[in-house]
Amino acid sequence: MLLHEVVDQLDLRPGLTVVDGTVGAGGHSSKIAPKIIPGGRLIGLDRDPMMLAFAADKLTGQNATLVHSSYADLPEVLKSQGLTQIDRLLVDLGLSSDQLADRERGFGFAAGGPLDMRFDTRSGISAAEFLKTASVEEITRVFRDWGEELAAGPIAQAIVGSRKFEPCETAAELVAVVERVLKVRDNQQGSHPATRVFQALRIHVNHELDQLSRFLDSVLPVILRPGGRAVVITFHSIEDRIVKQAFRDSEVWENLTKKPIVATPTEVRLNPRCRTAKLRCVIRK
Ligand SMILES: C[S@@+](CC[C@H](N)C(=O)[O-])C[C@H]1O[C@@H](n2cnc3c(N)ncnc32)[C@H](O)[C@@H]1O
Repeated sequence: MLLHEVVDQLDLRPGLTVVDGTVGAGGHSSKIAPKIIPGGRLIGLDRDPMMLAFAADKLTGQNATLVHSSYADLPEVLKSQGLTQIDRLLVDLGLSSDQLADRERGFGFAAGGPLDMRFDTRSGISAAEFLKTASVEEITRVFRDWGEELAAGPIAQAIVGSRKFEPCETAAELVAVVERVLKVRDNQQGSHPATRVFQALRIHVNHELDQLSRFLDSVLPVILRPGGRAVVITFHSIEDRIVKQAFRDSEVWENLTKKPIVATPTEVRLNPRCRTAKLRCVIRK
C-alpha cells in the first residue's frame, strides 16, 4: 500500500539503517531492502508472530533482522542490536490483509472463530473476554471514543443485556447484535455497519492509541538521528489526528507533508482498503 510513495518519501540510499516498525508481510520492507545495500541495515518489528513468519519468507536473502516487539519498545530493540539511533523509520498502522483473512483471529466480520482481535495472543485479554466482563459504561466508552459509533450506548446495552445467555464469542455473533440494534444489515455498499465497533474493539484490546502516542512523544524524537526521516501511514481519523498533532511540533520536526499523501484512484480501485490511508512524513531537526 502506497509502496512508491513510501520509498519516495524515505529518500533511501546505500548504507542507511532503517526500521520498519510494522513489518507485516514484508511488502514495504522488500522494496526498502535493495535500496540500502551495500552497507545498510533493515530491522523489521511486528507484534504478531504470524506476520513475522510471512515477513521472514518474503525477505529471505535480504539481510533483514526481524524482531517480535512493538514499535513503542524500539529503544530496547535497538539496544539489543547494538544501536541507539536510526536513519529512517516506517510505521504502517492497523491490520494486514492476512490477519483480516484469518478466520481464527476474529478481525473480520464473517469470522466464525473466537473473537480475539489481539495482535499478540500471548498477552492482554481478547475482545470476547472484554465484552464478557466489562460494564455497559466501559463498553460504551470504547465504542464511542475509539470507533466514533453514534449508537455506542444501545449496542453496549444489548451486549451486556444478553451476555449471560448469549455472549458474543465470535465475530459473526457480534455482527448480529450490531445489526439488530442498528436495524440494518450489510448491503455490501459502503462500509459494513459493524466497522466502527470492530475498529474500536481492536484499538482497545491492543492499546493501539496509547502505543502510538507514547511512540510519537517520547520514542521517535530520541531514536531518529538529526536529518533522519519518519513516515507514518494511518487508516482512520483518530490515528491521523494523533500523528498530525505530534508532527506539528516545529522545534523537533520539519514537516514534509502539510497535507497527507493519499492513494491514487488506481490503487484504491485495486485495493479499496487504501481509500482511508494517509501518509505523513517528517525530518528530525
Ligand atoms: C498494515 S500492516 C503492515 C503491512 C506492511 N507494511 C506490509 O507491507 O506488508 C500492520 C502490521 O502492524 C502490526 N502491528 C500493529 N501494532 C503494532 C505495534 N504496536 N508494533 C509492531 N507491530 C504492530 C500488525 O500486526 C500488522 O502486521
